[in-house]
Amino acid sequence: MNITETQLAEKGFLDLEIDPELDLFAEIEKLKKEKNAILLAHYYQENDIQDVADYIGDSLGLAEQARKTDADLIVFAGVHFMAETAKILNPSKKVILPDLKAGCSLADSAPAPLFKAFKEKHPDHIVISYINCTAEIKALSDIICTSGNAEKIIESVAKDQPIIFAPDKNLGAFLNKKTGRKMLLWNGACMVHEIFSLEKITKLKIRHPEAKLIAHPECEEAILNRADYIGSTTQLLKYTQTDSSQQYIVATETGILHQMQLTAPQKTFIPAPPDNNCACNDCPHMKLNTLEKIYLCMKYEMPEIQMEEALRLKALVPMQRMMDISRAAGLIGG
Ligand code: 13P
Ligand code: SF4
Repeated sequence: MNITETQLAEKGFLDLEIDPELDLFAEIEKLKKEKNAILLAHYYQENDIQDVADYIGDSLGLAEQARKTDADLIVFAGVHFMAETAKILNPSKKVILPDLKAGCSLADSAPAPLFKAFKEKHPDHIVISYINCTAEIKALSDIICTSGNAEKIIESVAKDQPIIFAPDKNLGAFLNKKTGRKMLLWNGACMVHEIFSLEKITKLKIRHPEAKLIAHPECEEAILNRADYIGSTTQLLKYTQTDSSQQYIVATETGILHQMQLTAPQKTFIPAPPDNNCACNDCPHMKLNTLEKIYLCMKYEMPEIQMEEALRLKALVPMQRMMDISRAAGLIGG
């Protein structure tokens, strides 16, 4: 069957039939070899996708892998801004995302025209943007950061330099507290990290008094105030591997529990509960990717991330600053 980008945009991959007998794990491995492809996955992807990925990581690790890969085809099992970041850093590669609708509520909370107007009202400020934003916002920024390097990025800026931090107000408030800065915060947030219930976590702590609460800095302040450890997904995972506790309540998207459980099978990991009975601690954007869509997008090499070169070059400048500071700080390889 032949499929065009237009058909794909209209109908998506779901309408294409896949032989149910097909071993998708084996097929994906075959396609990787045939096409010299690398499959990069974020920790919030479903377990099967993590199991077939060549590299699983946080936003910083994924950006570095995308930058340095020799593969011809980068298959991004994550969300749109992550695949876009790969394209910004490594434009000669074909970057494909299994579902172009895999967006991010945090990135959506900063529309470029509104942010540009906000920035223009504060001409003496520089802009540090969290990587969870569109290429247009990156192009309006001076430095990008991730949850894994944000403190180092802020420390690299002179103490008396006013800073706008976008788009995550929770991460921004956490960083203001940690660094003693008074960064001006854009009012954005992640729908997944804002949903955790302090009341339910408190009850869980009573039932599991030995359990440590570990949280992603996109969580609200009330949760972070109770946390025993706060870090990016990679930092949370490393913490559970090196810390001596046996039980953890994990306040971030549930996908990370797969690697935690695999690398410390004797420990217990309890997902922090959301404030209602939904499965809202699953990111609906991340979970749009499936093994089936990965197989099809590799087979047809689409949908592809396209970007105007002028925009890419503007977005590359603050990304490059982030990568340089991270390398100097030993957060990514030399
Ligand atoms: P990190 O994996 O970089 O901590 O980011 C978390 C996240 O929300 C990605 O969308
Ligand atoms: Fe965006 Fe939040 Fe989903 Fe991460 S978990 S992709 S920040 S909506």
